Amino acid sequence: MTHYLSIKDIDNLSVWVKEARILKSQPKADKNLGANKTICMLFFNNSLRTRLSTQKAAMNLGMDVMVMNFGSEGWTLEYGDGTVMDQNTSEHVKEAAQVVSQFCDIVAIRAFASLTDKEQDEAEVVLNGFKKYAGIPIVNMESSVGHPLQALADAITLEEHNSKERPKVVLSWAPHPKALPHAVANSFVEMMQLQEADFVITHPKGYELNPAITKDVQIEYNQEKALQDADFVYIKNWSSYKEYGKVLNQDPNWMMTKKKLGSAKFMHCLPVRRNVVVEDAVLDSDQSLVIEQANNRTYAAQIVLKKILENL
Ligand code: CP
Repeated sequence: MTHYLSIKDIDNLSVWVKEARILKSQPKADKNLGANKTICMLFFNNSLRTRLSTQKAAMNLGMDVMVMNFGSEGWTLEYGDGTVMDQNTSEHVKEAAQVVSQFCDIVAIRAFASLTDKEQDEAEVVLNGFKKYAGIPIVNMESSVGHPLQALADAITLEEHNSKERPKVVLSWAPHPKALPHAVANSFVEMMQLQEADFVITHPKGYELNPAITKDVQIEYNQEKALQDADFVYIKNWSSYKEYGKVLNQDPNWMMTKKKLGSAKFMHCLPVRRNVVVEDAVLDSDQSLVIEQANNRTYAAQIVLKKILENL
């Protein structure tokens, strides 16, 4: 594998999950694979889990790690071709990406959606700009459209806790005061499309995700109905896709409660706003898998980096 940009870069999800679980049992088994190799992690946005888990994964593989908070410490980048750079951008991605690649063997990038310009966001200008000009493998640490490291960790967590041949998994929208991107939900949907499961998405009308991603996944606008007999409930807020980046609804009745959860396992990528997205009683119960999801971020990143290193 050369790049890890989306779930589509996984050639066999169940094999990757199995391999990641083996890595989890022996995290240092490949500690020499990354010797004399460097990963450079560029953050255009904040992070806790992605930053620490990807760094931990690289360290488990014996890599050197460089981290830069590009959003606050780097020059403001230009992505357009032929732009007269007499406004706010200081450096073109053509130079920046080539310069970064002088110092490392893999570049990992986090660059969220603007949520103001759908066309620009869907073009993934940061990720694709670096891909085009860096000439070295690129790892997506959450882009405008996807968060494939999170979805891979979620697949590992599902596998660890599933006891059924065909579990029922529900992705439910929840309220949030701010406009959030679609990336986590998109990649979770793409990952679930590779699973043997009854998968349902539930959200208020107007919060349909990109239909090119959801395709024929069942959408149920009645949350109570969607949650019936669920084995796993994945809660996430996202802003409207159709009315791009808008918050249309903050109905607190969509918050996940212990009563609504029933006997299902609760999943969320974190960070999460307590008692807005989900009530304390869920997060503090043994039905919550959120800490295990966060822990599995290391092994998701490690299997991705391992496959890239094996191909260098
Ligand atoms: N879930 C996730 O990506 O967490 P961070 O934003 O803290 O990295």
